[in-house]
Amino acid sequence: MNYNSLDKLEEIQQNEFIKAAIDHVGAGVVISDPEQEDNPIIYVNKGFVDLSGYEADEILGYNCRFLQGEDTEEDSLEKIREALANSKSVQVELLNYRKDGTPFWNELQIFPVYIENMDQNFFVGVQKDITKRKDAENLVGHYSSEVRRLSTPIVPIEENISVLPLIGTVDEDRLQQILDVVSHHVQESKEDYLILDLSAVHTFNKDLHIGIYQLNQLLDLMGTTLVLTGVKPNFALQSAPYVNLGELSLKSYISVKQALQEIR
Ligand SMILES: Cc1cc2nc3c(=O)[nH]c(=O)nc-3n(C[C@H](O)[C@H](O)[C@H](O)COP(=O)(O)O)c2cc1C
Repeated sequence: MNYNSLDKLEEIQQNEFIKAAIDHVGAGVVISDPEQEDNPIIYVNKGFVDLSGYEADEILGYNCRFLQGEDTEEDSLEKIREALANSKSVQVELLNYRKDGTPFWNELQIFPVYIENMDQNFFVGVQKDITKRKDAENLVGHYSSEVRRLSTPIVPIEENISVLPLIGTVDEDRLQQILDVVSHHVQESKEDYLILDLSAVHTFNKDLHIGIYQLNQLLDLMGTTLVLTGVKPNFALQSAPYVNLGELSLKSYISVKQALQEIR
């Protein structure tokens, strides 16, 4: 064996080694050739075959758009088109479909690679199935909006009176949620009184004090009187640096029961 064929053997062994490694990276890997008509795939690894459900001969020679379907986001495709047109890298999360039609979330990275001895650009695509993460994110999003909705329960107790029992801690986000829900509710119901019951609130932080002030202003504008109940004795003292409660038009009572007796 001369020097050249030894070299060749080493190259083949090295290629086999790299091929085996790429086959087992746990992600799809494809290479496309943008100099051929419609940028077809010229290399596909085992990860992509497993992920997509297509055989290699159904993939090689085709543009990768065969993974797309009805709900694939146009925004992501536009990002890809722009990156490819400018020979730039891009990363998107998009909905793709396997051969059997089942959808999956694909975290797709595409980057250009210049091969010097061929004097040519190729694109490498790496596909990761992130369906589990996306499903978990959607579930968390669903539950947090449910928790937010349940954390502002406005209970109409008489024709012109509603009670909003506050529970837990009020921070900036929650405050905005309360203001939104209350203004929507009062606009619809046009009630005379809204009782904000603070019996179950144990932390009187700055956001809560400012929230009560803003709520009072908002309800004033809408012709509804804000009534505070369950106010702890130290509440007014703690408010002092933020709001002067004495200046507000709101009424304050020890309990909802007492407030109702007074209002009626
Ligand atoms: C290397 C490479 C890998 C790609 N992989 C995917 C993929 O996994 N899923 C997908 O929906 N599109 C993929 N694309 C994008 C499509 O091939 C195509 O570029 C995209 O649909 C926008 O072009 P079009 O408007 O001509 O369809 C890939 C593109 C390249 C270059």
